[in-house]
Amino acid sequence: MTPPFPRTAVFDGPRLAAVGGVAVDELAAAWGTPLYVLDRRELVARMRAYRRAFGDDVTVVYAAKALCVVGLLQLVAADGLGVDVTSAGELRTAERAGFPMARVVFHGNNKSHGELADAVRLGVGRIVVDSLAELERVAALGERRGDPVAVLLRVTPGIAASTHEFIATGHDDVKFGFPLSTGMALDAVAAALGRPGVDVRGLHCHIGSQITATGGFEAAAAALCRLRADVHACCATILDELNLGGGLGIAYTRDDEVVSIDDYARGLLGAVRAQTAADGLPAARVTVEPGRSLVGPAGLTLYTVGTVKHEPGLRTWASVDGGMSDNLRPALYGARYEVVAAGAARASGATAATAATRRYAVAGKHCETGDVVATDVELPDELGEGDLLAVAATGAYGYAMASNYNRVPRPAMVIVGDGHADLLVRRETVDDVLSHDVALPGGPAASRPYTARP
Ligand SMILES: Cc1ncc(COP(=O)(O)O)c(C=O)c1O
Repeated sequence: MTPPFPRTAVFDGPRLAAVGGVAVDELAAAWGTPLYVLDRRELVARMRAYRRAFGDDVTVVYAAKALCVVGLLQLVAADGLGVDVTSAGELRTAERAGFPMARVVFHGNNKSHGELADAVRLGVGRIVVDSLAELERVAALGERRGDPVAVLLRVTPGIAASTHEFIATGHDDVKFGFPLSTGMALDAVAAALGRPGVDVRGLHCHIGSQITATGGFEAAAAALCRLRADVHACCATILDELNLGGGLGIAYTRDDEVVSIDDYARGLLGAVRAQTAADGLPAARVTVEPGRSLVGPAGLTLYTVGTVKHEPGLRTWASVDGGMSDNLRPALYGARYEVVAAGAARASGATAATAATRRYAVAGKHCETGDVVATDVELPDELGEGDLLAVAATGAYGYAMASNYNRVPRPAMVIVGDGHADLLVRRETVDDVLSHDVALPGGPAASRPYTARP
């Protein structure tokens, strides 16, 4: 089994030598490390695999929370997908990327009045309504402009997804959506159908992320279909659309078993078809919203080793120049990653052919014991300062959840393909990080009575 690097990755023995036709040494020299690298061919292949697997009758919408930067959304738009955004920032990114607003779906459990007004003004394709309070807000906007706003209602189908509890969203008692089990979902649809300010196009659900079995997806799809039948029975309305969310898991290590995009599509569409036929309703227009499974495997991170510490009887630590500020997932969820040596061996001058290995823990540079990129990684015995390491499958929820913890500037991001690298995000500087700080007027000794004025 090979580690889950993008399909253009070239290895020299166990070392990652190049990706997208560009030597990793060149990438590190030109852009510095840590560096997020996206492989254009892997990304495009995944977008096309989704469209092929689901067919022309299904809308594929990229969930931008996985990675939301202008250049990436330009590529997503060019490939004909839609985009799902969850905040003013993501919406503005889509706008800056020139994304056709009709292909934008706006999510979130607490969209502000301002965000909703912006979304309506810009003409986003769908707003996914998450609460009765939000229904009021959206309906008021539609009534004011005299043109109903196209909405879906987010439903919590009561399905427990087999994934980490922080990223399971479809079971009862989560903050998202209207629960099906209590009858609230049906009541919400009935309420929305009675409001002239909204045009209720259909239902939405999303049961969670990094899901590696199809059963939950299929059960949720069937539950949504049954709700559609209940809406027909109670309100004499046939809803046209079912947005079934995202959530397909990816391989982070060579041992991870995942569901293919084809099998996922077959299972999901089969469940919808079977339940729709059982309910005797016409077919609905299906949408899916993959995030992780589009961009995750297209990404990798390059780090430079700073120090190696041998602790006899305990461990050997290799510390790199990034960590939890550029990839929170290991610290947040205990997520596991695959790490390999990359580029030429600098510390030892060893060649791929001669290098013996030893077991390392790869640590980040942050002041948290939990800031460990990966444990039990087989790496060259002579690893040392200046050696490059590459971490696989970091394209999703890495930069998206990055922080400036310890005032560490966030890395640059490049996209590689056909021997070229283009910058997607420039590296932050310490001055960027400090740029929002405001020093006390008059220096540290100055003290003024509290005033509510800014
Ligand atoms: C509403 C919605 N749709 C789609 C996604 C994308 O999920 P994933 O990145 O696992 O495909 C998410 C992520 O949590 C989500 O909340």
